[in-house]
Amino acid sequence: MLYERKMNPIEKFKKWIKEETEKSSVRIPSACCLTSIGLNGYPNSRFVSLKEILDNKFVITGSLNSKKGIELLANPKSSLTFWWTETERQIRIQGNSVQIENELADKYFRERNKESQIVSQISKQGTEIGNLAELIKLFQKQKIEYNNIEISRPNDWSGFYVIPKRIEFMEFKKNRFHFRELFTFEDDNWNKIILQP
Ligand SMILES: Cc1cc2nc3c(=O)[nH]c(=O)nc-3n(C[C@H](O)[C@H](O)[C@H](O)COP(=O)(O)O)c2cc1C
Repeated sequence: MLYERKMNPIEKFKKWIKEETEKSSVRIPSACCLTSIGLNGYPNSRFVSLKEILDNKFVITGSLNSKKGIELLANPKSSLTFWWTETERQIRIQGNSVQIENELADKYFRERNKESQIVSQISKQGTEIGNLAELIKLFQKQKIEYNNIEISRPNDWSGFYVIPKRIEFMEFKKNRFHFRELFTFEDDNWNKIILQP
């Protein structure tokens, strides 16, 4: 318990995701809800997978020309929300997004499977499509064409660091007094308060 009290929120996040992953059989335990601020001022949410935490920053990837990419580049205010069913825990993170370096984007792109790489290359994610069959045909063609050829990262495929400012941990309790802990980053330090359930 004393150890828990001293943990900073990044360590606590890592402990919680590890505990969930050990118990869970879901395919993507790193799935989280990313919210960006729409160009029309309304929030926009969608699931993404957390790639990793680097230097206390949460890394996500995707197309810069997608809705999320356009919105995060226009307004860095963003949030990531996790809900883990096995451990009955929720974590929500608010922070600012900053585009990752090209070298790091290259690394994540290389780690994607060939089919995902081809889709990233040929699809203008989120724009209207007249003929899906045509796109699928192109995909099949490129699959053969690039069978033994490395696909380089499209310029508009990259990722973002979400640099956390607030991290709230919530753990369900049977007695309804859900435990809520809020960490806020101020003056180079994480401050912690406990919230009412
Ligand atoms: C579990 C899950 C994980 C996903 N992971 C990603 C991801 O890491 N990156 C991504 O661009 N889209 C991911 N998607 C697809 C997004 O939810 C979304 O459909 C897509 O990125 C387009 O969103 P946008 O139009 O708001 O930019 C994922 C979807 C699900 C359900």
